[in-house]
Amino acid sequence: MDNQKIQIFDTTLRDGEQVPGCKLNTDQKVVIARRLDELGVDIIEAGFPISSPGDFNSVVEISKIVRNATVCALTRAVNDDIISAANALKFAKKPRIHTGIGTSDSHIKYKFNASRDEIINRAAEAIFFAKSFVDDVEFYAEDAGRTDNDFLAKVCTEAIKAGATVLNIPDTTGYCLPDEYGAKIKYLKDNVAGIEKVILSCHCHNDLGLATANSIAAVRNGVRQIECTINGIGERAGNTSLEEVVMILKQHPSLGFDTNINTKLLYDTSRLVSENMGMLVQPNKAIVGENAFAHSSGIHQDGIIKNRETYEIIDPRDVGVTESAIILTARSGRAALAYRAKKIGYELTKLQLDLVYFEFLKLADRKKVIIDSDVHQIIEISNLGLLAS
Ligand code: KIV
Ligand code: ZN
Repeated sequence: MDNQKIQIFDTTLRDGEQVPGCKLNTDQKVVIARRLDELGVDIIEAGFPISSPGDFNSVVEISKIVRNATVCALTRAVNDDIISAANALKFAKKPRIHTGIGTSDSHIKYKFNASRDEIINRAAEAIFFAKSFVDDVEFYAEDAGRTDNDFLAKVCTEAIKAGATVLNIPDTTGYCLPDEYGAKIKYLKDNVAGIEKVILSCHCHNDLGLATANSIAAVRNGVRQIECTINGIGERAGNTSLEEVVMILKQHPSLGFDTNINTKLLYDTSRLVSENMGMLVQPNKAIVGENAFAHSSGIHQDGIIKNRETYEIIDPRDVGVTESAIILTARSGRAALAYRAKKIGYELTKLQLDLVYFEFLKLADRKKVIIDSDVHQIIEISNLGLLAS
């Protein structure tokens, strides 16, 4: 049986850009949107048009250049927001309006001072209004992660009746455990009339470091769209990281899912976003961090040199990284030193390697990392009469 497609909804330019200090101008957003389109994301959330004239303009310009992806704009369940989004999307080949409202008791009481019935009415009216501009309307039940499942099912049922094409079930505060979030999705699959007519979407925040795990649990329980960002950036601790969910689905074919992402562009896209936002990628970040394919302990280096698969579950070239890195430190062994020396032109005999390794350890205890020029120097001071080939 063919794998099922999971739609990748990228919100780097909306939720991702909410990170303090990461604001982008329209030109930068257009460059990133073009790249996201090449990367193969299915939906690009381009912004929140009512929020500022700059954001409105960015959604307009992105709509003009995106060739393949659906372009989506965020709104609250407010008519002026929806009109603004519809205007900003007028050049989009495939426009989508993303509208919604908070559904947890805390949002209903403190944000809206409303009743549950009023929330359902406002949600349905917003969807109905958005449908008068575009066919594709995604509804988000903000703080669905902390919303009572029974009420959430009622909201979803009404959202489908009002014409929503996609139902987004955000874990806005990053509170849910994977089992709990998966069970919530299953509950909706089992209890919402008409659910088979819409795509269910997950939108997970990373406050407890569970965004990726929650998204995968959601997929396993019926979600067919994942909302995520490059490098996992987003409000507070961020959103689900696009590169993580995409590579999990690719590396675990037995799950039976696929995406349209060209994974070879992942590393470059990560750097493009990081440079434009001025937000560094943590070195140990899965998939795209500087150390994701770097090996520094002697035992691991020896294994990697014999066969990459001993300590790597992903071929670095699959995500656009040229090769695994063998980092020389005081924890490295002879195999790694000989490997590095060979790379820079020295073929060492066993005896020569013993001598050079002795000098290497002395330097490595003083320096954190030994680079190629250090290896040259060590070989020279070891007086072996060797010349690099
Ligand atoms: O986290 C959230 O609930 C959101 C919605 C606006 C989709 O970002
Ligand atoms: Zn969010």
